[in-house]
Amino acid sequence: MAEDLTVVGLGGSTRAGSTSLTALRTALEGAGAARVRTTMLDLRELDLPMYSPEHGVPTSVTRLIDATASADGMIWSSPTYQGSISGALKNALDWMILLGDREPAYLTNKPIGLVATAGGVQGLQSINAMEFSVRALRGWAVPLVLAVAQSRTVFDSEGRLVDDAVAAQLQALGAEVARAAFQFRNEGTCDYADNRQFTRPSHTDAGGQPSPIQSQGVM
Ligand SMILES: Cc1cc2nc3c(=O)[nH]c(=O)nc-3n(C[C@H](O)[C@H](O)[C@H](O)COP(=O)(O)O)c2cc1C
Repeated sequence: MAEDLTVVGLGGSTRAGSTSLTALRTALEGAGAARVRTTMLDLRELDLPMYSPEHGVPTSVTRLIDATASADGMIWSSPTYQGSISGALKNALDWMILLGDREPAYLTNKPIGLVATAGGVQGLQSINAMEFSVRALRGWAVPLVLAVAQSRTVFDSEGRLVDDAVAAQLQALGAEVARAAFQFRNEGTCDYADNRQFTRPSHTDAGGQPSPIQSQGVM
């Protein structure tokens, strides 16, 4: 892949030992292993003020906006709070209104990988909420997403990842973002990798023909 590509991670919670931050770090490792540069925007450390159009733009916001504008791809990772994303991540996304002045605007042509951790099983709702924002910001959500359920069984009390299978999935997601960013750079678009593994159920329609979805090779 290309070392001049940059994938930026954005997320984590405001809690020390954040599971969503560890998940983000692990996904970024996967991107790094695919030979792209990686940058971390840890929301706890960034400490953004609440979005307001009325005050000046603080240094923390400039850092967020400049890093996002120069990213070839991003990975977002949120804890699941009340069935959705954290206010801290949503606030960071709200600040991205400032990307409207950039060329290209917002997240045009940037693939975004989505990760959530959850105490229960509602992480996919956070993924869906993030995807709404990806689309609103003109980005491309990478189809491979990871909602890590029951975080207490996957991370220890210090926030360390203790499940090798989840680590491998997060790294695969990071590598997928790197691959999509590379395709956008070279082809201006992205699609599924040729070697992407899909489950091929043996369903046929009433006449014994493969379903249209199967015959198009997307399942
Ligand atoms: C304010 C708050 C709200 C939460 N709401 C949910 C929820 O609706 N569904 C769920 O599955 N887990 C919920 N959780 C659990 C967190 O998603 C879970 O502990 C996650 O791992 C926290 O991420 P972090 O370690 O990055 O802080 C909530 C936790 C907090 C603190």
